[in-house]
Amino acid sequence: MDIIFYYIFWSNALEILDVKNISYSYKGGKQALDGVSFTVQKGESLTIIGTNGSGKSTLLYLLNGLLKPESGNIKIFGSDTNNGLTPEIRSRISLLFQNPHAQLFLLSVWDELCFGPLQLGLDNDEIQKRAEDILKLLSIEHLCNRGPWDLSGGEMKKVALGTCLSINPDIILLDEPTSGLDPKSQVEFVDLINELRTSGKTIITATHDLGIIEDISNRTIVIGENHRILLEGKPWDVIDDTDSLLKANLIHRHIHRHSWYMHEHSHFGMHDHEHVALNEIKDTGTIEKKTGEEVIFQMTEIEKLRKLLEHWAEHNEEHAKTYLEWAEKASASGNKELHKILQEIAESTKKMDGLFEKAKRIADVSR
Ligand SMILES: Nc1ncnc2c1ncn2[C@@H]1O[C@H](COP(=O)(O)OP(=O)(O)OP(=O)(O)O)[C@@H](O)[C@H]1O
Ligand SMILES: [Mg+2]
Repeated sequence: MDIIFYYIFWSNALEILDVKNISYSYKGGKQALDGVSFTVQKGESLTIIGTNGSGKSTLLYLLNGLLKPESGNIKIFGSDTNNGLTPEIRSRISLLFQNPHAQLFLLSVWDELCFGPLQLGLDNDEIQKRAEDILKLLSIEHLCNRGPWDLSGGEMKKVALGTCLSINPDIILLDEPTSGLDPKSQVEFVDLINELRTSGKTIITATHDLGIIEDISNRTIVIGENHRILLEGKPWDVIDDTDSLLKANLIHRHIHRHSWYMHEHSHFGMHDHEHVALNEIKDTGTIEKKTGEEVIFQMTEIEKLRKLLEHWAEHNEEHAKTYLEWAEKASASGNKELHKILQEIAESTKKMDGLFEKAKRIADVSR
């Protein structure tokens, strides 16, 4: 009996958020969420993905108490929030808005960072220490005396994140935190999230950046275009579930048709050049899926090469960009050698544009 009691007590104690069957529609009847349920344990890092308009930001507003669900219920730290968040809960939860303009309203970055701690009633020394720590943590010391409205988009995002962290919340809600950040800042952001996770914070991140969900979270929820949860699981399993991601319109498949063969690419936010399936074109024009097989119609070898050159040239620039992107990431994580090699690969790839054109011209003459 004691063991059962202990188990119930312990499992409840860990459950920091309990979202039960919530729905929300904006004025005018625009539905944003429909029957969404999930729980979050203390110390979890959850990512929420979904297309534009699927309801991610609305969900974060509901969790932060800015909106009230029209039906369903949200419990935070075990307390019902139907009548709004108590001041105690409010001081333990913080939201980074998708648009940092919505967050910043004071005359200087320093004032912004002091505002939250001031509201908590901390003494002057503690407020100053908090603001200084945040400036250092986010490497934004140089912005300290600037007006928040004069900052670049990425700088503003960092300051807005700073204001969230300045109250030292237990639950951190982040809406598109990496949008507008340069590659180095993105890597730093991933490191920061993991530091916050280690220190026991509970983090919920809405993002389109499918490239980071495995790095920053242990669970991912996919919201479908019907504003309901479409899928929930480990981020790496979600990323592998191409069919569900296609259904949620989070990736797209584009089909390259050539006169002699066609194939499909799945595209994530970043360029992902994975061949997921190859298709057979029937004489009638209908497409029959035939994984792993290319159908080559009657063409001469030189015609096939011409088509291949077209295809290679079409994707060359995108490939070069991807190599550069990863070179930046390698540099940001301190791996100078890998950065240099990837840069060389990118430079050599760019040079191939001319070679492809030359080869196509020669192939044309030889046809
Ligand atoms: N203030 C509002 N008034 C009316 N409808 C709104 C309002 N804010 C959002 N909506 C609608 O609610 C739905 C959900 O919007 P929400 O901003 O939550 O989506 P999202 O998943 O965050 O999208 P994005 O990826 O573009 O940020 C959308 O159809 C949107 O048009
Ligand atoms: Mg949004």
